[in-house]
Amino acid sequence: MAYDIVHHEYDAIVVGAGGAGLRATLGLAEAGLKTANVTKLFPTRSHTVAAQGGISAALGNMGRDDWRWHFYDTVKGSDWLGDQDAIQYMTREAIPAIIELEHYGVPFSRTPEGKIYQRPFGGMTTEFGKGPPAQRTCAAADRTGHAMLHTLYQQSLKCKAQFFIEYFALDLLMDDDGSCKGVLAWDLATGQLHRFRAHMVILATGGYGRAYFSATSAHTCTGDGGGMVLRAGLPLQDLEFVQFHPTGIYGSGCLITEGARGEGGYLTNGKGERFMERYAPSVKDLAPRDMVSRAMATEIREGRGVGPEADHIHLHLEHLGPEVLHTRLPGISESAKIFAGVDVTKEPIPVVPTVHYNMGGIPTLWTGEVVTLKNGNPDSVVPGLMAVGEAACVSVHGANRLGSNSLLDLVVFGRAAAIRAAQLVKPGQPHKKISTTSEDRALARLDRFRHAKGGSPTAKIRLDMQKTMQKHCAVFRDGPLMQEGIVKLKEIIRGFRDDLAVADRSMIWNSDLAETLELDNLLGQALLTIVCAENRKESRGAHARDDIKERDDTHWLKHTIAWRVGDEDVKIDYRPVHLQPLDDEVEHIPPVARKY
Ligand code: SIN
Repeated sequence: MAYDIVHHEYDAIVVGAGGAGLRATLGLAEAGLKTANVTKLFPTRSHTVAAQGGISAALGNMGRDDWRWHFYDTVKGSDWLGDQDAIQYMTREAIPAIIELEHYGVPFSRTPEGKIYQRPFGGMTTEFGKGPPAQRTCAAADRTGHAMLHTLYQQSLKCKAQFFIEYFALDLLMDDDGSCKGVLAWDLATGQLHRFRAHMVILATGGYGRAYFSATSAHTCTGDGGGMVLRAGLPLQDLEFVQFHPTGIYGSGCLITEGARGEGGYLTNGKGERFMERYAPSVKDLAPRDMVSRAMATEIREGRGVGPEADHIHLHLEHLGPEVLHTRLPGISESAKIFAGVDVTKEPIPVVPTVHYNMGGIPTLWTGEVVTLKNGNPDSVVPGLMAVGEAACVSVHGANRLGSNSLLDLVVFGRAAAIRAAQLVKPGQPHKKISTTSEDRALARLDRFRHAKGGSPTAKIRLDMQKTMQKHCAVFRDGPLMQEGIVKLKEIIRGFRDDLAVADRSMIWNSDLAETLELDNLLGQALLTIVCAENRKESRGAHARDDIKERDDTHWLKHTIAWRVGDEDVKIDYRPVHLQPLDDEVEHIPPVARKY
């Protein structure tokens, strides 16, 4: 079908208006580049709004701290899969990044002296892991992401960045030489298609948590950037590492911030025991998320869960008192009431480990430039394409992200990408004609879904995928379970290809079609996740195999990169981990056993 397409030309465009996308947009506009932000959601509805507990930086406002300790904790938290050059950049830049946010207007909570308030978070320590827990996580009560998102949106508007709101990016426009030249997008409200040409495209499209049945992620977290990258024939990295947040509300999956344990909350099992003392004797409930989630799953598996089905755990906050709960944790107090019917001043919250974050994503350098493996070069830059935030794998989180390092990643690398783009793109540079191959393919894909006449509705296929991922690739996995999951998922993918039913053929607010396009993005990333998880024959960070319990640095201290081939196949290769920091301000941290 022929579509009339509105043509736009910009120096740079950003896809996505969460924390990373807005920080990149702001940086590009400040640098004088003609910048557009193309976003599926109204910016302040982006999923960053749900980030509660805070943003890490070694400010030392509430106890001694040093960014090198933050660097050490992040390398160790990543189970040594994080790239140490990028981790150095992030932890060092954290301090000016927070001061900059404060100056932009983020309403951080304050200490009695008026400094930014900081709380403890899991895995954040002092003295290179030998000292007490660090108070490093800067907070705006338990609505830190919300506060940041509003401030960054206001600042971007001030700099005259242009926003195309509720425009769904369909595909990258790639030229024959492999460079990215723009995106094709669908205006959901009018049905009009738009071609955005740009010399730099920055993907800030978030994670793909909705590949799973129970997730803290919004329904909109469908990995749209990752889907576009796979269709452009480029790889994704380390998708086998999926973070389960220990405290999703039992039943709804709604997030209860780790800041709750940072403020002194603790977990108990069905026997009323504070079981974390057995799993992480020194840091207990403030162990990193992978360890706490595994400990909870173990208690439940061994029959020590809470409730009639012994299938969840209790999080206690009652002892903190109404004053602390009201000033430091007002948002989760409300969520617990709404989603669990619990008054947190009197009773514990029922919680279970819930999918929360994708450590893997689009492989990039610390500058935000997307890389691929080409002619033996594992860091071969894809011209014209960058990725930031949860969509990207820089990789600062490696096999397991520390809580509050995500909001930090968004602002540090959103800013870094804008700086690099401003070095590469001259304002007003003309746009040359490009091959139409990728646009033609994108339109054919749109048409195929729009006119699908099979018998399986999108919602049914999506549910089958989510249940398969939840059962076959969860906190604990093993080879046979994942192999069975791969067979099921391939069957689901074939059903999507051969028997999809889309009922609405219009282009205006066609949520049936939008959800189908999202499901296509999810399916590709679900497939890579489970195939790469089955392929990685070790346990590391969030990838915990029951059949191979040890980390294996000899064979597996490397990033997985994977391409989708056709509908059902996956090609796997590897990139080395960057074990050397950027410069001699810190020393490389050699891998050792990870104990807390
Ligand atoms: C939380 O507050 O626990 C979520 C924030 C994060 O994932 O870093």
